[in-house]
Amino acid sequence: MLPRCAFSVCHVFMLVLCLSAAEDFDWTKNDHGSFYYGTFPAGFSWGAGSSAYQTEGAWDKDGKGLSIWDVFTHKKGRIQQNETGDSSCEGYYKIKDDVSLINELKLNHYRFSISWPRLIPTGIKSDHINERGIQYYNDLIDHLLENKITPIVTLYHWDLPQVLQEKYGGWQNISMVNHFNEFANLCFEKFGNRIKYWITFNNPWSAAVEGYETGEHAPGLKLRGTGAYRAAHHMIKAHAKVWHTYDTQWRAKQKGMVGISLSGDWGEPVDISNQKDIEAAERYVQFYLGWFATPIFHGDYPQVMKDFIGRKSIQQGLSTSRLPTFSPQEKSYIKGTCDFLGIGHFTTRYITQKNSPSTRGTSSYFLDRDLAELVDPRWPDPGSEWLYAVPWGFRRLLNFVKTQYGNPMIYVTENGVSEKMLCTELCDEWRIQYLKDYINEMLKAIKDGVNVKGYTAWSLLDKFEWDEGFSERFGLYYVDFRNKNKPRYPKASVQFYKRIISSNGFPNQREVENWRRKAVETCSSSNQLLAADPLTSHMEMVTEIVVPTVCTLSILLSAIFLMFLLRRRN
Ligand code: NOJ
Repeated sequence: MLPRCAFSVCHVFMLVLCLSAAEDFDWTKNDHGSFYYGTFPAGFSWGAGSSAYQTEGAWDKDGKGLSIWDVFTHKKGRIQQNETGDSSCEGYYKIKDDVSLINELKLNHYRFSISWPRLIPTGIKSDHINERGIQYYNDLIDHLLENKITPIVTLYHWDLPQVLQEKYGGWQNISMVNHFNEFANLCFEKFGNRIKYWITFNNPWSAAVEGYETGEHAPGLKLRGTGAYRAAHHMIKAHAKVWHTYDTQWRAKQKGMVGISLSGDWGEPVDISNQKDIEAAERYVQFYLGWFATPIFHGDYPQVMKDFIGRKSIQQGLSTSRLPTFSPQEKSYIKGTCDFLGIGHFTTRYITQKNSPSTRGTSSYFLDRDLAELVDPRWPDPGSEWLYAVPWGFRRLLNFVKTQYGNPMIYVTENGVSEKMLCTELCDEWRIQYLKDYINEMLKAIKDGVNVKGYTAWSLLDKFEWDEGFSERFGLYYVDFRNKNKPRYPKASVQFYKRIISSNGFPNQREVENWRRKAVETCSSSNQLLAADPLTSHMEMVTEIVVPTVCTLSILLSAIFLMFLLRRRN
């Protein structure tokens, strides 16, 4: 089932590493049951997602300000092949095309994000509001609604205005709370009459850890052991403030909901009979999802984070914990600020206990957890290095959310799989398998009593995949980035996902197997279309460059020739 082009040296390396780790225990103990045929509750919402920086392009058009991602990607050596999201899928110019793709899938909802600097170029509302940015999102929202597609809007999918980074240090600074609140308030004012689902932050874990701890993401800071905790602290406060703003100023009139989208891998103990591994796996999930979910549902950080980071901070000679604290007033202000919980989930890890050093100079979010992550070499791994397909982890994570946070209303805001860029293959059987199995585990979770109301496949289109550039494709639709028109082509998974949606689940084995077969049959003709694309680009070059140049030259030559003739006559 692996795509032909997905195997890399890194995979082999991982495999060897993992095989040696695998000798210690029995992988087969996790036999995770069979496929469950059945349907989702009536009204279950099916969707797909995107984000502004990853798809819009038009990075400097129509009055948009710079975001930290514009600046980060323009520095050499930060992104694979030095690629940028400058034009990406040109989504800014393709509202109609993309809504027709959404229609083709018969989606109930579409998740997108608003670019803060497109609306407020410096990030500071009192400086300037960009009306053309507002116009763009108005058009997008209106067009979705005309097509009976519910918009789910993310306010922050990582594209902080660069001015806020330069002036204040971005999320390291508490002043972001007010600036973000003003931006959110502007969005409620301009778009809230039509939006019922707001997501404050997308995956704040990544924004904090990769932006301020490892520096792999914008703004690229490596403030190990403190940066991520500080950034997260301010994001949690900003989230709560925006929820309260909506609650007190807009809810009664607009009748929408405000949630947050948290990402979380599942962590399974390597040895389920070993208490230390069980605790390490619990810690893994608490340091990931619990870091944000526990304050929002219970008012404070998970006890285990406070204990571990506090203890290590003291051992490192600090007088206070590197994990910031909330005052009693802040705790009660933050607690309960979630009308629905967005869950972004892709993969799972096996976890074992591993003591890390806690001497001076060793502070790091990763070392604070005292654990090691392992993967089963047999898990399918078609695209991104980190993304192993482990469907059963999804059901466990959803059940964890149910028991830990009082069975909140959940929307799955991201779930999907990638393939490598060079894979010009529309017959994405691996994605069909991934979606089939993950969606099935979600169905089982709903049968377990988890309150999941909707599912968002990640993503609608292939797009800019952050530090990986365009090298990883998550789309249901293939985007030909070589062609300046960025044409979209359906992968086989479009047909398959469409069937799940129209049946609201999985009717029976025969039908589901038929869907798969038909999807794979139809994709081979689309593959030929794609294969013909270099020809299309070539034809475009002929019509757009060669023909006008030849015409201009001919006119010039004729003029010279005419002048020559006239002169000779005289
Ligand atoms: C989570 C991020 O929110 C999204 O932008 C990204 O494309 C996916 N992870 C896949 O890496």
